[in-house]
Order: sequence, then C-alpha cells, then structure tokens
Amino acid sequence: MSQLMNALDDFGLAVVDGLRQSPKTIAARFFYDQRGSELFEEITRLPEYYPTRTETALLRAHADDIARLTGQGGAVVEFGSGSSAKTPILLRAIRPTAYLPIDISADFLDLSAEALAAAHPDIEVFPIAGDFTDPIRLPDDVDGPFVGFFPGSTIGNFAPQAAVDLLRSFRATLGSGATLVIGIDTRKNPRLLEAAYDDAAGVTAAFNRNLLHRMNRELDGSIDVDAFEHRVAWHDGLGRIEMHLEAREDTEFRVAGQRFAMRKGETIHTENSYKYTPEETRLLARASGWEPLAMWTDADAMFSLHVWHAVAAHKEP
Ligand code: SAH
Ligand code: AVI
Repeated sequence: MSQLMNALDDFGLAVVDGLRQSPKTIAARFFYDQRGSELFEEITRLPEYYPTRTETALLRAHADDIARLTGQGGAVVEFGSGSSAKTPILLRAIRPTAYLPIDISADFLDLSAEALAAAHPDIEVFPIAGDFTDPIRLPDDVDGPFVGFFPGSTIGNFAPQAAVDLLRSFRATLGSGATLVIGIDTRKNPRLLEAAYDDAAGVTAAFNRNLLHRMNRELDGSIDVDAFEHRVAWHDGLGRIEMHLEAREDTEFRVAGQRFAMRKGETIHTENSYKYTPEETRLLARASGWEPLAMWTDADAMFSLHVWHAVAAHKEP
C-alpha cells in the first residue's frame, strides 16, 4: 500500500475500493456530508417524495398507540437521526428521560441535537456521531428501557441480508425489554418510485452528484461532475430502486491519488432502496430477533410504520 493509501480514511478507502470494482459501487452512507444532509432535507419536502410526509402523518395519528406499546419513560435511541424532524412527535408521547441520536453526518447531527435539546429542556440529549453498522456503546449512565427509533425507511438502503445483520445488532445494543419503532417503505407502482427518486426539480440528482463533489473536495479529485448523469432504475425481481451516476461520455479522473477511466454509459452504483411487502416485513422482523406488535399504513399503503419488541434470547426446542 502506498503512503497515500495508508493516510486514507474510511471514505477514501471505500471510494478507491469501490471504483476498482466492476460494476463500480460506493456505499450510500457516503452521501451524507454536511451538503448531502442539507440536500436530503430538501428531498423530504419534494412533492414526489411521499415517504417523509406519509410517515410523519402516521406517527402523528398513532403516537399514543405507539407509547402504549413501548411504555413511557426510558430512553429513545434514534438510528440515522438526520434533522430529528419527526422525533418530537414520538418524544411527546413517550416522554423519555434521554434521547440518543446517532448519525454519521457529525456536524449536522450536532446542530440538530442542539435544536432538539433547546426545545425539550426536560430531556437529556446525547448525540453519538458515527456509523450505526459499527458496534455501538450506549453511555453507562443512561437507563432503559430503550426504545429504538429507525424512521425514514433507512433500513431500505441495506440489502436484506445486511438489513437482518443490522437489526440484530440494534437488538443487541438496545437489550432485552427493548422495542423498535421502524418506518418501512412499501412496494408500489414503479412509476411513483421513479418519480420519487428522479424529481422534476432535480434535487435528487444534485444529492446523487454531491458524492462526486465530495470526492473532489475531500479526496483531491479531478472529476468533471457535469460528465455524469443521475439515473434511477426499478428492479422488480430484487424489489429495489437503484440510483447510479452514469458517464455521459468517456471520462478520466484522479481521486485519492489514483487514476480511473470510465466508458460512456458506465455507471457508479450509489444506492439501493428496497421496498417491502407486509409479509416480507414480518419475515425481516422475525429473522432479526424482533416480534411485530403493530403495523399501520396510510389509506393508499404508500408507507408503513411498525412497532416490534425484542424477542427474549432463549433456546428453542
Ligand atoms: N431519520 C431521518 C433521516 C433519514 S436519511 C428521516 O427519517 O427523515 C438517513 C440518515 O441516516 C441520514 O441522516 C444519514 O446521515 C444517516 N446515515 C446513513 N447511513 C448511516 C450509517 N451507516 N450510520 C449512521 N448514520 C447513517
Ligand atoms: C435515507 N433513505 C431511506 C432515502 C431513500 O429513500 O432511500 C435516501 C434517498 N435517496 C434518494 N432519495 C432519498
């Protein structure tokens, strides 16, 4: 490994590794630098992007039912908290003593956590900057029971096997007696999905292309961002919508001290967003050590909201 490769951080190593693969792939968590988090917030307000407003309405409608299932008090741990915009609905119903937002976008997390703490002086806020796929250690002085909150269908950005591993690790982090409030996007007409991930105003395209800008900014890249087009494709067999960055022409660039070439039409695969049927959702819960307690959808079944509880670890016959 060269000196430069030794000096590379998680982002640099993932980019170099991912661009050497065929097809080229970069994990979706790298979208979220400060600019990426801001662009995601813009996405949540787009008319085509139904998940945020639908899930928010479901949380408002069922907050008291949720609190009956989770119980009140304890601590709420949010995975991929972003702006924490939906969280106050849950906090008002559950009335926890502590709130622990976890997010990889560290500066954005700090600002969001500060705003939430100012608005809820009765709740102790402990922001945790980091990757929630790594082992998470909750502060020793925070008492449970723990309620996990995993909204936005962020689980959809993991392939089913990785999703099971992740939900299992959340179960281990939160401990027995925990509940999980999780939002999961549903399978629907692919035309609606394509519009949600390729909006008319081009905000999702800017979110996708920001990854290239981030490589230029942080990894001394020389990428001509305009040489790439935002592409989405629904894959029915896999039940996922894919986002790619497609080269409009043959292009060459340098990033993290390495040279790369792409042919016209070649893509970098940047995101999968899996959509689940109700049966698949139940299977996902049970395969990862959780038992479904309740499930709500809107009238058009555009999005689903669930409460699961941790299955006690015991030996099966
Ligand atoms: N919960 C918010 C934001 C969803 S966007 C909502 O429902 O609207 C996904 C969020 O998860 C982003 O804030 C992103 O920074 C964060 N994120 C994505 N992958 C992550 C990872 N591996 N570890 C920690 N945070 C992650
Ligand atoms: C965070 N995640 C669930 C979003 C999604 O819908 O898959 C990210 C996103 N990508 C494009 N638009 C929104």
